[in-house]
Amino acid sequence: MLNVQGQRNLSTKHRVIFGDCRSMKEISDESIHLMVTSPPYYNAPFDYPDLFKDYNAYLDLLREFSSELYRVLAPGRVACFVTDDMLVKGEKFPVVADTTRAMIDAGFRYRDRISWVKPKGYVRISRRSGVLLQHPYPMYYYPDNIQESILVFQKGRFDYSYTKKLPPEIKERSRIDLDKYKGEDWYLTVWNITNVLPLGERLEKGVAAFPEEIPRRLVKLFSYYGETVLDPFLGSGTTTKVAKELGRNSWGYETNSSLKTVISKKLDRAPGRSHIVFSERKGQSSDRHSRRRRVANVSSLTNR
Ligand SMILES: C[S@@+](CC[C@H](N)C(=O)[O-])C[C@H]1O[C@@H](n2cnc3c(N)ncnc32)[C@H](O)[C@@H]1O
Repeated sequence: MLNVQGQRNLSTKHRVIFGDCRSMKEISDESIHLMVTSPPYYNAPFDYPDLFKDYNAYLDLLREFSSELYRVLAPGRVACFVTDDMLVKGEKFPVVADTTRAMIDAGFRYRDRISWVKPKGYVRISRRSGVLLQHPYPMYYYPDNIQESILVFQKGRFDYSYTKKLPPEIKERSRIDLDKYKGEDWYLTVWNITNVLPLGERLEKGVAAFPEEIPRRLVKLFSYYGETVLDPFLGSGTTTKVAKELGRNSWGYETNSSLKTVISKKLDRAPGRSHIVFSERKGQSSDRHSRRRRVANVSSLTNR
């Protein structure tokens, strides 16, 4: 494997901090080449009931995190959120609009919104549309949701002279497969991708994981081989796994330290060689997960 300088490289490096991403003090300024993440969807009834005291507390997280992200992201680089508006106890919260506002206020450019559309049969939480089947009259319409948004922001503009300085081998390894780009409709603002249902014995059980195909496309589209990807709301470590698979290094933040084993196992499933370092911040707990459970301080393992 090669690093950005085009030298032979044995493995990618992955660092996971169990702590609140409102501070990413472990990461130096402007050292991240791409962010791909999916924050908790406010108090999503299935996954995060009552995680936040109220919607303002959620907005505070978005705002504080966005300005810290601005510090760590390299100039011209991209930050992607997979998120959705959330229906909680009959009220719809405008998470997509508020995430966009928080990012613009932090200094980012709003670049794109891609709709991630799931297969029709994959409605997860409730079949709201059934209300109309029972009452086939006006005012009983509640559609089932099979989409989420992939929001794309940019820190200023990318300096394309950077690519001219890259070793040809790095550029070649970063080349995007045009058959997939055209054949799988990557070029459209609608991406049809099957979602992960966190059921049964899946590693993602209990975590609202996104399908690998989302970070896979974004990492290929917005970072070069050997660069560094950040997922500040890491969950089961999907982004870390994809980063390894594609020859990128990564950073991840996660408040639920009990996910350490899941993240390790997931990384093991990716081809290639890697080194992962876990660290846990002391005395910092931002959510119910980390209050509930505390595990080892710092550990490190290498896998292939
Ligand atoms: C939607 S899940 C991410 C799932 C992930 N994309 C995957 O594929 O597994 C959001 C994660 O953010 C974590 N989280 C919530 N607040 C956080 C914070 N302030 N800092 C870091 N992680 C946080 C939650 O514990 C949860 O695991």
